[in-house]
Amino acid sequence: MDNQLQTSERFKPPKTRRDFLGLLAAWSAIAAFVMAILGAFRLPMPSVFPESDSRAKLGKPKQFTVGAQTYFAKQRLWLYRDEAGFHALSSVCTHLGCIAERLDDGQFSCPCHGSKFDEAGRVKGGPAPKGLIWVELSVSPEGWLVADTLKEVTPGTKLLA
Ligand code: FES
Repeated sequence: MDNQLQTSERFKPPKTRRDFLGLLAAWSAIAAFVMAILGAFRLPMPSVFPESDSRAKLGKPKQFTVGAQTYFAKQRLWLYRDEAGFHALSSVCTHLGCIAERLDDGQFSCPCHGSKFDEAGRVKGGPAPKGLIWVELSVSPEGWLVADTLKEVTPGTKLLA
């Protein structure tokens, strides 16, 4: 019986180059299939959490006096404090994403295609389809003023802090 098994064609090593390449192709196909299945199971798990970088501490509210207008280059936003509270305007142009420059009179001008925005971010001219985004502000449990650049609030919304 043992002898019969050893002499079976099935258990003999491949003899020809063609047999070897055939086995190699079969194992490669199996390995590719297994990797594809593993990849498909991994798809629902995000490897990047976009919100983790969208929140930024801007400082303690008392750091900003009434009338303060502060630019945060990394977050690309202007923080304003007036008698009614805090608000933040994104300086990212709503046309194609260039950074709109704030002019001396408080209005904004985009250097790329010439969009103009008033001091509240409303479109005054140019190709921009909508006004500058008012960014959500909140106060953290530790008392920090926090901006979330991925969250938009209705223009005119102020944070009392
Ligand atoms: S990107 Fe600002 S006007 Fe085009």
